[in-house]
Amino acid sequence: MSVAADLAPWPVAATPGDTMSATVFAEFGPPDVLHRATVATPRPAADEVLVQVAAVSVGRLLDLSARAGTHPYAKFDLPHVLGAEHAGVVAALGAEVSGLEVGQRVAVFPAVSCGACALCLRGVEEACPSLQLIGTHRPGAYADYVAVPARNVHPVPEGVSPVEASALALSGPVARNQLTRAGFEPGQWVLVQGAASALGSTTVALARHLGGRVVATSRSAAKRERLAALGIEAVLDATSPTFVADVRELTDGHGVDLAIDDLGEPAVWAATMDALAVAGTVVTSGAFLGGGVSMNLLRLYSSCQRVVGVRTGNPASVRATWAEVALGFRPVLDRAFPIDQAAAAHCHVESDTNVGRVSLVHTL
Ligand SMILES: NC(=O)c1ccc[n+]([C@@H]2O[C@H](COP(=O)([O-])OP(=O)(O)OC[C@H]3O[C@@H](n4cnc5c(N)ncnc54)[C@H](OP(=O)(O)O)[C@@H]3O)[C@@H](O)[C@H]2O)c1
Ligand SMILES: [Zn+2]
Repeated sequence: MSVAADLAPWPVAATPGDTMSATVFAEFGPPDVLHRATVATPRPAADEVLVQVAAVSVGRLLDLSARAGTHPYAKFDLPHVLGAEHAGVVAALGAEVSGLEVGQRVAVFPAVSCGACALCLRGVEEACPSLQLIGTHRPGAYADYVAVPARNVHPVPEGVSPVEASALALSGPVARNQLTRAGFEPGQWVLVQGAASALGSTTVALARHLGGRVVATSRSAAKRERLAALGIEAVLDATSPTFVADVRELTDGHGVDLAIDDLGEPAVWAATMDALAVAGTVVTSGAFLGGGVSMNLLRLYSSCQRVVGVRTGNPASVRATWAEVALGFRPVLDRAFPIDQAAAAHCHVESDTNVGRVSLVHTL
């Protein structure tokens, strides 16, 4: 059973007990390896905050692949608590934390960089060699409470629901960083492949919010219908034989200035490159379909095009995201499930029918 996402209210901060409920998995496998358990409540370190979780969003790589045992690079100590993208209220503060207060509504950016290496000091924290993810390398938010570094916590503006805040906690800063690294400007044509996906839908919403003209794609007619209902300029099927001609026609022959392709599927990638304008930029932040794509370097250099890898967000893109949220930027929401139905939420994402974010909520 899923619920309307806006039914979930923000919780009132409660005094944490010694134990809490969490959804864990002790072996890799299908969604039903996820089960409820009573575990010790984490204690925040001096520079950490204890967050009482209100909502946590489900992602394909960080949640589904991790639980299935097919995550391409992370190692897990089992049993493990998943949950990267989350929002909640501050329940306790570490001894050295200032600037936050108990009861405050916050979203947690789950990528923890060292803050001290040359790349972090250059403002490229997403490339930090010791980058860790909450919910992957440390316990996550499929739990009543999670202890997180205070510098990963960002206040949530008024009028934003817990599900919206959790849906933006990681994908918002990734989408913002994608557009920044690509040199996005208002008025540009932006192609988003896999636009119904968790990340793709967020990039679509942000590009539109910032004044981009968006071409969104899905292979599914049902998803294209739901995407079109969002008011997007054009919704196409990248696997259609007329796709590139359709994009050229839409853009008066110009092609798209910017393309986002987080899929890593060879035929979709070829369509992305064929639809790209001279001096255009392609950004990729994922390749769950393999990533072994081919490139015509002759065309790339002679058309002055760029391909940019964006691993994740960074503190600057977190701040920029929440500034845009205060101005009305919102994610695309699909469905929310109660936290004790995490397996059903994983099945739903696995079925590949979502348009936008699938979340787990604690307060129903
Ligand atoms: N770097 C980061 O921080 C970050 C964060 C989040 C996600 N990601 C990446 O973004 C990608 C999407 O993840 P998600 O969680 O957003 O996905 P999701 O919500 O599960 O959506 C899956 C997407 O994959 C597309 N797809 C599935 N099979 C396909 C195929 N054979 N050919 C073409 N398209 C296919 C679907 O398109 P249809 O509509 O056509 O079915 C849909 O758009 C992954 O590579 C993930 O690793 C990266
Ligand atoms: Zn670093």
